[in-house]
Amino acid sequence: MADKKARLTVDGESIDLPVYSPTVGPDVVDVAKLISLGYFTYDPGYVSTVSCESAITYIDGEAGVLRHRGYSIEQLAEQSSFLEVCYLLIYGRLPNDDQFADFQSAIQSEQVIDDYLMSVLSSFPRNAHPMGVMCSLVGAMSAHYHDEIDINDPECRQTTAIRLIAKVPMLAAMTLRHGRNQEFVPPAPNRGYAENFLHMMFSESESDSVSPILANAMDRIFLLHADHEQNASTSTVRLVGSTDANPYACIAAGIAALWGPSHGGANEAVLQMLEEIGDPSKIDAYLKMAKDPNNPIRIMGFGHRVYKNYDPRAKVLQATYREVLGLLGIQSDPTLQMARDLERVALSDDYFIQRRLYPNVDFYSGIILKALGIPTSMFTVIFVVGRTPGWIAQWNEMISKGYKIGRPRQLYTGDVIREYPQD
Ligand code: CMC
Repeated sequence: MADKKARLTVDGESIDLPVYSPTVGPDVVDVAKLISLGYFTYDPGYVSTVSCESAITYIDGEAGVLRHRGYSIEQLAEQSSFLEVCYLLIYGRLPNDDQFADFQSAIQSEQVIDDYLMSVLSSFPRNAHPMGVMCSLVGAMSAHYHDEIDINDPECRQTTAIRLIAKVPMLAAMTLRHGRNQEFVPPAPNRGYAENFLHMMFSESESDSVSPILANAMDRIFLLHADHEQNASTSTVRLVGSTDANPYACIAAGIAALWGPSHGGANEAVLQMLEEIGDPSKIDAYLKMAKDPNNPIRIMGFGHRVYKNYDPRAKVLQATYREVLGLLGIQSDPTLQMARDLERVALSDDYFIQRRLYPNVDFYSGIILKALGIPTSMFTVIFVVGRTPGWIAQWNEMISKGYKIGRPRQLYTGDVIREYPQD
């Protein structure tokens, strides 16, 4: 596998390390043998660290490229539905008509309301944060589906993937309706995945129709969030999974990691920030605070660890955002207008230009979700629904390939040894 070698010299001693070439992307230096020579590597935030081998998603941050199983995100957004992308991520190929029909019916057969999960949900106060509720409900699935799980059985892993893709949107809709003290609306098998989700969240009766514009925008938001290589939540799912933990518990851990405002929680934080700014005349003062190194404030929805020129998901969503606002006739909403002003001012500001900080997917998704009438506290839950196939595909790939328990080391800076104080 390794045709090339890298030579590391420490204190005059040289060590040859294998270098692997991926099918596309930067070469990778294998440092695993350094431990036997008495060294660790140090890379806080894992900015230069590869944690696994994967054939699911490829990102080139400099070029703004995102591909799933070799297909560009732009083509997938244009030609596929979210559910087709779920199939692609899990099975490695786009489905033909029969395969897709089987996949859809397998998902539908898992879309039943579970009394057990209903009773867990009912224990939450109405004002509980939906992300905390989602994390708990998926965690509760681990308790419910434990004895029957054999992670080494590929069929069992497929059932787990299908069950999660089927149930997570239901749990999300149930969470919203519980918070509003509304009866749950059961899923309708004749509706598409995103349409069904909006139906379960907002319909008053079984026959209520869902606008195709809104259903398409929701499907596209799900699709654009479906997977994103080894980000914080996916790495969390893999790390927990590497201990052979219950897969539903792994996904619950992924939900916890996603909640943070530096990751998926940014879509909610964008709207909170816009509300905090409050008025276009205050944008300059807010930007000044975000640029001050002594102030922790950041412009939410701007910047990305990997994308340094543009976020391709944001580009696709930017078009959807214009389309949705146009179709809904709400271009004049003051919050949306302020988002546009903030974007324009930040993009021409030297601080943001020099640090290559551009709007990311969450900047536009937050704004579209607001236009769709989704409450702000549900924004990151929408991200959960979209990212579920990516998490489960990455977990499945890891388990099927063989893996070691994830166990990083540290640069210890504490006391060497202390004497316990005597009285
Ligand atoms: N506003 C103001 N300054 C920023 C921002 C921002 N949003 N993002 C980065 N910077 C500055 C940062 O202060 C630093 O400045 P300096 O070089 O003077 O110290 C420089 O840019 C580099 O920042 P960093 O923290 O080293 O970059 P990172 O790669 O560790 O962080 C990030 C990436 C996404 C966490 C960060 O850009 C951020 O906090 N953005 C806001 C939150 C956000 O929108 N997150 C969603 C990410 S996309 C969805 C997802 O996939 O999860």
